[in-house]
Amino acid sequence: MRATDLLAQIETIGREPTTNGYRRFSWTAADAELRRWFASQAASRALSLEVDRNGNLWAYRGEPAPGEVVAVGSHLDSVRDGGQFDGPLGIASAFAALDLMKARGVNPQRPLAVVGFVEEEGARFGVACLGSRMAAGLIESEKAAELSDGEGVTWAEAMVGAGLDADSIGSDQPRLEQLHCFVELHIEQGRALDPAGAAVGVGTEIWPHGRWRFVFEGEANHAGTTAMDDRHDPMPVLAETILQVTQDARRIGARATFGRLLVEPNGINSIPSLVTGWLDARAPNQDLLDEVARSLHSQPGITVTVQSSSPAVHFDPALRGRVKDLLPSLPQIPTAAGHDAGIFAGAGIPTTMLFVRNRSGISHSPKEHADPADIEAGVEALARVITHLAGT
Ligand code: GLV
Ligand code: MN
Ligand code: MN
Repeated sequence: MRATDLLAQIETIGREPTTNGYRRFSWTAADAELRRWFASQAASRALSLEVDRNGNLWAYRGEPAPGEVVAVGSHLDSVRDGGQFDGPLGIASAFAALDLMKARGVNPQRPLAVVGFVEEEGARFGVACLGSRMAAGLIESEKAAELSDGEGVTWAEAMVGAGLDADSIGSDQPRLEQLHCFVELHIEQGRALDPAGAAVGVGTEIWPHGRWRFVFEGEANHAGTTAMDDRHDPMPVLAETILQVTQDARRIGARATFGRLLVEPNGINSIPSLVTGWLDARAPNQDLLDEVARSLHSQPGITVTVQSSSPAVHFDPALRGRVKDLLPSLPQIPTAAGHDAGIFAGAGIPTTMLFVRNRSGISHSPKEHADPADIEAGVEALARVITHLAGT
């Protein structure tokens, strides 16, 4: 089946009618529907479905053996009001690539797996790439279990609520040791491929990035009767912080985003008692990223917690060389977006990424775009990469 047809099967799941964006958060009803869709795709191709100890989905073709599995996939969850392609394109393209190989009579020697990671965006529980991070043992199980969403529901509670066992979350080394390599196809996030006239590109590296949660405390009081000199208002302090950190990031060539704020008590005529905010920062190297973090930490009155931290990733040069030999015309592009592929690469698994042109250049928005012909080109490239890596 074509990837566009597979995406059409899920296009209404988790879509918010007022914004036309997707709200596909882990362990919600939308997520359950997407997981059922994944399972049905696995079943219709006679792949054997396994839900790993962290809730990630693995659909195997052939018998997994140490160092042998060629795994391909991405994630099903979205940011709040995200686009159609970030994540699901990689999964739909993986199933479509298997179909294409079958139609061409390709009989791969190595076992294959299509993977669907949970909570890649960290939109519900805050930590980016949580499913792959847990599998790679890069976050302590107790810490992961206790992560909570905006309503105070923990990861463990949400997982149990979705019918899974949360007692054994954590490092999944035996499963990772089965991997020969991991390939993630993803929508391009940015606009490098269009000017290059290319439908598909190959990932070279991921910028280091991280998330910091911070609070400023104040004192709730009456907006009218409290003199300006008498108030403890965290809001102007927050405003200065945002200006300072974004200016610092701009000056050194890093990126800083304040995309989420919580204000208590959140009333028009009450001075806030507390503001909680999140900084998402990315930079071309770790020193520059550390500089943005220092800028945040040095703000007066702030309390900061590191929520997630992802070092720079340089995708496996040997694997990249093989992909380059196979598909020499594809541009090689870096990305400042995080991916499960980056987590697996950091865990020592030979990993590569393919990007499909996004003519809008916009991502994490309903304006994210991929032309059907480019999606087909992505599936073709993916099928060739899998065929090569799995051997025939
Ligand atoms: C994932 O999309 C990220 O935020 O980098
Ligand atoms: Mn994303
Ligand atoms: Mn993604």
